[in-house]
Amino acid sequence: MEDSDPGMWDYPEHTEAKHDILGKYLDAWYPIIASGYGRVLFIDGFAGRGVYNDSSPGSPIIAMGRLLNHSAWSRMSHREFVFVFIEHDAENVESLRQAIADFRADWEAEHGPWPSNVKYDVNEGTFTDHATEICDYLDEQYANLAPTFAFVDPFGWTGMPMSLLARLLNYPSCEVFINFMVGFVNRFVTHPHQGSNMNELFGLDVDAILADYDGGDRVDHLRDVYMRQLTDVAGFPHVRWFAMKNSTGNIGYYLLHGTRSALGVEKMKDAMWRTAPDGDYSFSDRLAGIDVLFQPEPDLGPLRKALVKTYSGKKGVIVNPDLQEWAILHTPYRKPHLTQVLRDMEKEDPPPFTANRPNGKRQFAAGVTLDFG
Ligand SMILES: C[S@@+](CC[C@H](N)C(=O)[O-])C[C@H]1O[C@@H](n2cnc3c(N)ncnc32)[C@H](O)[C@@H]1O
Repeated sequence: MEDSDPGMWDYPEHTEAKHDILGKYLDAWYPIIASGYGRVLFIDGFAGRGVYNDSSPGSPIIAMGRLLNHSAWSRMSHREFVFVFIEHDAENVESLRQAIADFRADWEAEHGPWPSNVKYDVNEGTFTDHATEICDYLDEQYANLAPTFAFVDPFGWTGMPMSLLARLLNYPSCEVFINFMVGFVNRFVTHPHQGSNMNELFGLDVDAILADYDGGDRVDHLRDVYMRQLTDVAGFPHVRWFAMKNSTGNIGYYLLHGTRSALGVEKMKDAMWRTAPDGDYSFSDRLAGIDVLFQPEPDLGPLRKALVKTYSGKKGVIVNPDLQEWAILHTPYRKPHLTQVLRDMEKEDPPPFTANRPNGKRQFAAGVTLDFG
């Protein structure tokens, strides 16, 4: 099947959910990144057709639309936003160009002339070739990449070398959002003809990928090795995963977010929890050995368990920011989840901690500390 075959461009619920997360995250990311000066880049390395069979917009249109229709757009106009779309299939490129032209015409009809600080470029070819070209150009100029959000969303597992992600995104304000097709990777990792593809994907040869595999769930293992490489090779200290599970409970793919910013982790998690699909697909993460399902009424048990395990016996634990930062960076949960768990724990008899609230501080406000038993 070709990448432009109509069969590839239906719009299943999990794709809608993925787009929802992308859009919600960009809603938060644009104003944060726009607080600086200069150029901002959005690179869509596997950009697609721009439109699905049911007319739903693809990721390039979502990315531009979330910026241009943002409620804070007028406060971001001092920055130059450059959208780099890369797509290797000629038919898809043509469709994408048309989708962008249609989007632009609609936007201009409603808002007036296209803003001069928003540029876009549709590049026909592979992510590897075009991203390498960008890196070579930057090297020649002795320049660093502008703050960048890179979306890496292939149909399969090839064409996204770890070494290239590392080279392209090795600057402080760069982030990556990857669709990691772990099912395929698991199926083909030991295939005799896939050695070089796996090596490229992970930046490790197959023996090294499987070196510390203990015979347990190989999907978990492959995810963990890939994430470790994103940290060690691509330099992202914070990498979080979210499993996209189908109705049979099998993992279709992982969405991986790599960032160097704790705020980025927090905002991506917010986007995930706010999307929380409850149809045929679900998201999950894991904490304290328990699956955490992203849903409107989440099970906070794993958070309580991990909290007690981590802080048992510790005195003077600062809630804001230390405990909040722990929850953001080391658990799948959000700050409001932590607050809820602390509230519930304080009502237990006996409570697992005593709270010190100097000068009548509010419940878990800055300045409040906890002594765990
Ligand atoms: C999952 S689709 C992308 C969907 C798009 N990101 C969206 O959310 O609307 C993957 C796309 O990558 C393209 N593609 C496959 N291999 C590629 C490569 N090596 N470099 C760039 N594009 C590639 C395919 O033609 C296909 O359009």
